[in-house]
Amino acid sequence: MKKLCIEIEIIVLSLVAILLLLPVSGISQNPQWENVAPGVWKTVVGNPDSYDLLKAADAHPNKDALTKLGNVEFPLLPNEIVAEISDSKTLLRFPLVKEEQLYGFGLNFQTVQQRGKILQLHVDHYGGSDNGRTHAPVPFYVSDKGYGVFVNSARYITVYAGTAVRKDSPNAPEPRDRNTDKDWTANPYSDAVEMLIPANGVEIYVFAGPSMLNVVRRFNLFNGGGCLPPRWGLGFTQRVRALFTADEVIAEAKAFEEKGYPLDFIGLEPGWQSKSYPCSFSWDKTRFPDPEGFVKTMKNMGIRLNLWTNPYVSPESPIFHGMKSLSGSHKVWDGLVPDLTLPESQKIMLTQLGKDQINIGISGYKIDECDGYDAWLWPDVATFPSGNSAEQMRQTYGLLLQKMTTDYYRQNNTRTFGLVRASNAGGSSFPYVIYNDYYSHEDFITALINSSFSGVLWTPEVRGSTGGDEWVRRMQTVCFSPMAMINAWADGTKPWSFPEVEKEVKEIALLRMRLIPYFYSEFAKYHFEGTPPFRAMNLEPGFGSKSVTETKNDNLGENPYGLSVTKEIKDQYMAGEYLLVAPLFKGQTSRKVILPKGKWFDFYTGKLAGEGEVIQVSAGLDRIPVFVKDGGIIPMMPPLLHAPAAGEKFDLVVRYYGSKPGKYLLYDDDGETFNYEKGDFSWREIAVSPNKKGKPVGTISKVSKGKPDNVGNVLWKIMTDK
Ligand code: GAL
Repeated sequence: MKKLCIEIEIIVLSLVAILLLLPVSGISQNPQWENVAPGVWKTVVGNPDSYDLLKAADAHPNKDALTKLGNVEFPLLPNEIVAEISDSKTLLRFPLVKEEQLYGFGLNFQTVQQRGKILQLHVDHYGGSDNGRTHAPVPFYVSDKGYGVFVNSARYITVYAGTAVRKDSPNAPEPRDRNTDKDWTANPYSDAVEMLIPANGVEIYVFAGPSMLNVVRRFNLFNGGGCLPPRWGLGFTQRVRALFTADEVIAEAKAFEEKGYPLDFIGLEPGWQSKSYPCSFSWDKTRFPDPEGFVKTMKNMGIRLNLWTNPYVSPESPIFHGMKSLSGSHKVWDGLVPDLTLPESQKIMLTQLGKDQINIGISGYKIDECDGYDAWLWPDVATFPSGNSAEQMRQTYGLLLQKMTTDYYRQNNTRTFGLVRASNAGGSSFPYVIYNDYYSHEDFITALINSSFSGVLWTPEVRGSTGGDEWVRRMQTVCFSPMAMINAWADGTKPWSFPEVEKEVKEIALLRMRLIPYFYSEFAKYHFEGTPPFRAMNLEPGFGSKSVTETKNDNLGENPYGLSVTKEIKDQYMAGEYLLVAPLFKGQTSRKVILPKGKWFDFYTGKLAGEGEVIQVSAGLDRIPVFVKDGGIIPMMPPLLHAPAAGEKFDLVVRYYGSKPGKYLLYDDDGETFNYEKGDFSWREIAVSPNKKGKPVGTISKVSKGKPDNVGNVLWKIMTDK
């Protein structure tokens, strides 16, 4: 009897084991979804890798904020989502309906809508085409049907975003005869997003809307909420020539002051280190004989410092020997590649950065070269002591570097704001902005738009230019971006490098300073509510424009299958709650702007610009076209040369546009520490509505006792005449 029981037990256990292994056997399955937060579901297919994107980022969802967004229904039909494991790879299929449009899949530079693309999501320096190889190849997409899908894998994921047609698809198109049918197309209709993940299983998340903006919010909040930079991080920053000495840096800061240009932090490029490419992580004592004294001198001038580095360790670095056994099998530029998934290796690196730089007052880093190109990184055959593969390390190295430095600054209770060249899902809360060496101004703006679908920040940095026209146009957009920066490491440019537009450039840099109260509040909304501060028009309610793909068949000799051309809006964006930015590029004096539903007003004059329509605008070099939504309230401050320090009061100039009653939440805290994480912050409600005579009147709520209050006088500016 006992033997029989044991036999039955074995049979039952084997059946359970077989059932558990089913996904590994190649049979398609409909995953089961577990609700992990309001509007967020998770499923686990097969046996996922133990290391993934969320683990690398160590992201903690902001459950309270997710709860505020409310409970919603699962946004897809579960039986239409299919997972299968075959050939040691996971195959996923998500449904698409006709006309559905897709956004995201990382930081793309030339297209916003992604349906119709085949991508291989792969951390890399952007190489000029949107093929998935980019600085932040985030495996997350947002559908205009109001949901998002995130694949939590640190693998190179291949995506067929509505390109492949299954023979068993109920929507499979009928074959057409190319000889006779003018409607024949090389890209027949596809009803699914399919993905191939080279792993025996994967964790997947679905995010609900119903609006696309809510999908994005939930994604950002699930990753811990967006970052909140220090207030000074939103001022102006200048990166100096690579081999500048301490004296030259001080002279540069003085020149900004004397000429009346704002400046909050200076970036030192490779020459601050005694060795670079690979790096020593130590000061060069000929160029910087007294780092501590130098940092103090700069601080007394109101200027902080940010240091360039790449992560590869030079044999001349004090950490080389300690890092030897804790690094990968291959070198980069003959330097060690620390295995930063190991706590010991992080500790060695942080001890050096801490004692040599952060603890003497360095305010942040620019973490370079953690993305690629292939020849400038470890190869995929490299191995790492942790056992994580070269591929997994590549997909997460930027995240690891951001996390480790952010945590160190948090321990010191000092905020940082820096630059990084690689990131991925899970990184929304890291105070880093992505940049690169590519330099198409138009594509930089498309990247800024796309960053809002991927939980990352992007700066269209300014380096050089062919003349004053291009220079001022680039300066205008960088001042309406997360980091207002000139990167003069190679060219030595200054804001005043083009005398013919000096006045206009100063004006835009000062406008950036005046907008700090607004941008700071918008970043607080990124942090607490998940709303990207700079975002795509498609996330704005009432913006009806869709991307349209046309096939051009006019040169059959060269292009026998017809070339697909996508027409979409990729050159205007939202900056915060109320501002619509429509950049002009070199040589342009006018352009089309699509205004979403409702009335929109000119930012500079307050005059009505249009109402849910396409307008043609012109602007001289002194202006970047900016429009304000009806009822828009923009809290500004005087044009200071440095962002207000902790405890420094500043006057508020509140602008009001249009005629609708308006509301705005103004955020305040000390601007420098992490005390806001303990509740040390305030929100003040600014409201404008008509009095009995119909005249708009503004009010601002009081700050609760003991909460931060940096606002001095409040001046009201009603911008729109009746
Ligand atoms: C590049 C980086 C530039 C600059 C340069 C210094 O990799 O993208 O912005 O920092 O290194 O060598």
